[in-house]
Amino acid sequence: MDGIRGYFDSIYSEDPDYFGPTASSFARLAVGLLLRERPGGRVAEIGCGTGQDLAYFAAHGFEVEGCDLSSVACRRANERLAALRGEVPPLEHVRPADGLSFLEGLPAGSLDAAYANLYLNLEVDDAHRALTTRAIGRALRPGGWWFVRARSTADPGVGRGLRLGPGLVDPGGGRPPLRFYTFTELSGLAGDTFEAAYLREHPDGEPDFPVVVWDGVFRRRG
Ligand SMILES: C[S@@+](CC[C@H](N)C(=O)[O-])C[C@H]1O[C@@H](n2cnc3c(N)ncnc32)[C@H](O)[C@@H]1O
Repeated sequence: MDGIRGYFDSIYSEDPDYFGPTASSFARLAVGLLLRERPGGRVAEIGCGTGQDLAYFAAHGFEVEGCDLSSVACRRANERLAALRGEVPPLEHVRPADGLSFLEGLPAGSLDAAYANLYLNLEVDDAHRALTTRAIGRALRPGGWWFVRARSTADPGVGRGLRLGPGLVDPGGGRPPLRFYTFTELSGLAGDTFEAAYLREHPDGEPDFPVVVWDGVFRRRG
């Protein structure tokens, strides 16, 4: 994890808006879906980066918290959230932590939604990912939502770098290894705990960095 932390610390030190200055299309989809059901609620994001998506949830009336391995990202995310709420000094809505330990520290059944945008691509250890998925199931209330966006095996990035295994690539240049997802792998995250409510593969990204992602929406079984 030190490699991931160091890599993202340097990315965010250079450009806090590296993943875009405003909320992603996935955050917009999630907020639209949540608001259709009921206003407000508690949302947690793992690997929230500098918090542009969390700020979007907060601006729409949700209580938010999150974590990221990068302390540079956490500082920026807390500043962003504090600016929305007029908090002086910024409160610690976002903590520098691994997603799994963050989730395990949340009270069981306390979340209305868990959110992970381009986080699971960095979960290259299958056992750790399975524990993270289980921890999400524990932290969500029955009927709670899990939003997952992850790069697909149709992404051009699959062909760039050293192939380490099926869907597993070392992109080189000091960047962390990445896992790309097939439909079966993404839908398989549901296991017995979740019901897959929505799965869509589509192009995304910027003209100079095109990607193909899965948007997955899972619902915690009651
Ligand atoms: C591709 S970036 C996406 C950031 C943010 N979700 C966004 O959409 O802008 C992935 C983020 O996950 C964080 N990350 C990777 N592995 C992590 C882990 N095990 N625990 C917490 N954060 C992690 C990285 O530091 C990075 O900020």
